[in-house]
Amino acid sequence: LRVMVLRGGPSAEREISLKSGAAVAEACRALGHQTSEADIDPNDLSALDVPTDVIFPALHGFFGEDGQLQSLMESRGLCFVGSGSEACERTIDKISAKRIWRECGLPTSPWREVTPENLDELAGILTPPFVIKPVDQGSSLGVRVVKESGDALEALGQALESWPRVMVEPYLRGRELTVGFLGEGLLPIIEIVPATETFGYDAKYVDQRTRYVVQPGLSSPVRELIEEIASIAFASVGIRQLGRLDLILDERHGPMLLELNAIPGMTERSLVPMAARHVGLHFVEVIEQLLDHATR
Ligand code: DAL
Ligand code: MG
Repeated sequence: LRVMVLRGGPSAEREISLKSGAAVAEACRALGHQTSEADIDPNDLSALDVPTDVIFPALHGFFGEDGQLQSLMESRGLCFVGSGSEACERTIDKISAKRIWRECGLPTSPWREVTPENLDELAGILTPPFVIKPVDQGSSLGVRVVKESGDALEALGQALESWPRVMVEPYLRGRELTVGFLGEGLLPIIEIVPATETFGYDAKYVDQRTRYVVQPGLSSPVRELIEEIASIAFASVGIRQLGRLDLILDERHGPMLLELNAIPGMTERSLVPMAARHVGLHFVEVIEQLLDHATR
């Protein structure tokens, strides 16, 4: 196949995407495909004009994972790996994903979107600890836990200055889990055990002490419940071929959905490839499966 791997892009997760892209392109070459790589610039889409059989968008965040690129590829009739524009739009926006899950009866914590108009009101009524996060960023960028009510106003104001859209949620206390989706089904659950209190950007990409446990100890009813919830969560937003659902197994409320990534990290050390390895699929085989599904 002639494969075009898109990586980099204009989002705040550019550095991660360059790594995902390099790993994906290497795997495509190892599989014997004629592989090109290109950065993607919303103002210069020449990479989409190169004749190819399939495009692999190894892009995270704004433009590459939020449906904009997918919509352009769809309108040009191009074949590409992963979810279509609608699923990407629904999942990059954490509020829109949570609304859909609520409608399906899936557990996810209450939230409020923060605006300049309700900033003061929210600072007054939110009970710490609570979490401030950008509505549509990945890799925990901008995520902040507020523990003292005295910090609320300043923290909310700062977030609004830094990100286009901001939301707040209660801080959940429990085990951090993730479930990958590959091909047509779920991968084994992974538990993330950060050495620090929260699993932020540094714990994800810098801190070598973060531990990952594939198929962690969970009672069968809890594991089955999580798998059932995850299957519905992926289907409800229309994910195809690839995705990763992040959740917390809250001490009091049980599994609570956080968010879904339409294009999860795809380096050899990332979580979806890690879970796949556990069921005997090596990284190149994961990539082969994805190319296969896309070109079927
Ligand atoms: N947003 C990062 C790349 C992930 O989901 O792995
Ligand atoms: Mg994410």
